[in-house]
Amino acid sequence: MEIWDKVDRYLEEKLVQSDEVLEAALEASDKAGLPAISVSPSHGKLLWILAQLVNAKRILEIGTLGGYSAIWLARGLAPGGRLVTLEAVEKHAAVARQNLERAGLAPAVDVRVGPALATLPQLEGPFDLSFIDADKQNNAEYFRWALELSRPGSVIVVDNVVLEGAVVDPRSRDAAVLGVRKLNELVAAEPRVAATAIQTVGVKGYDGFAVALVLR
Ligand SMILES: C[S@@+](CC[C@H](N)C(=O)[O-])C[C@H]1O[C@@H](n2cnc3c(N)ncnc32)[C@H](O)[C@@H]1O
Repeated sequence: MEIWDKVDRYLEEKLVQSDEVLEAALEASDKAGLPAISVSPSHGKLLWILAQLVNAKRILEIGTLGGYSAIWLARGLAPGGRLVTLEAVEKHAAVARQNLERAGLAPAVDVRVGPALATLPQLEGPFDLSFIDADKQNNAEYFRWALELSRPGSVIVVDNVVLEGAVVDPRSRDAAVLGVRKLNELVAAEPRVAATAIQTVGVKGYDGFAVALVLR
C-alpha cells in the first residue's frame, strides 16, 4: 500500500467519518457491477462542505454513477434545496436511485437519464454549485453549460483534471487528456470565472480537481 493510501485512510478515519449509508451505497454499486470510480470519502466530504459554504439551494451534478457523490452533495443542500444529477447509463441511474432512497434523499434529488449534452439544454438555472464528473472528453462543453446555468458567486468543480500527470503531455491523443486540456484552454480564456486546480494523491491514485468561482 502506498503511503498516500495509508494517509488517506488515516484522514478518512479521523476527519471524514463515513457512515453506514455511504458505505451501503458503495457496496450496492459494487454488487451491481458498477466501476469503483466514485470520488473518495475525503473528496465527497469536501463537496458537502462546499455545498454548505455556498448555501446551495440548487446543485447540478454531471455524472451520477451509483450516487455516492450525489449523497454527499444532497446532504449539503440548504433546507428545501434540490440536486439535479445527470447520468447516461440507465443501470447506473437505477442503482443511484436506490442508494438515494436508502439515504432518505430521494425527494431532494432528480436523477435524469441520457447523455448530458442532451439533458443539459432542458435545465433551468441558476445552480449554486455544479460538479462535473462524467466523460472527460466533453469537459469543456459541460463547463460551458455549467457556466450558462450559474449566477455570480456560483462554484463549479471539475474532477479528474490531472489524470496521473498525463495532462501535461502535449503529444497525448487520449480523449480524456485532450478533454481536460480543452477545458483548461476554455477556462483560461473565460473572464467570467476565476479558477484554480489542486493535485491530489490518495486512495484514487494521482489526480486532481479544478474549482472555478463565477464572477459575473
Ligand atoms: C466518474 S463516474 C461519476 C462518479 C460519481 N460522480 C461519484 O463520485 O459517485 C462518471 C459517470 O458519468 C457517466 N457518463 C459518462 N458519459 C456520460 C454522458 N455523456 N452523459 C452523462 N453521464 C455520462 C458514466 O456512466 C458514469 O456513471
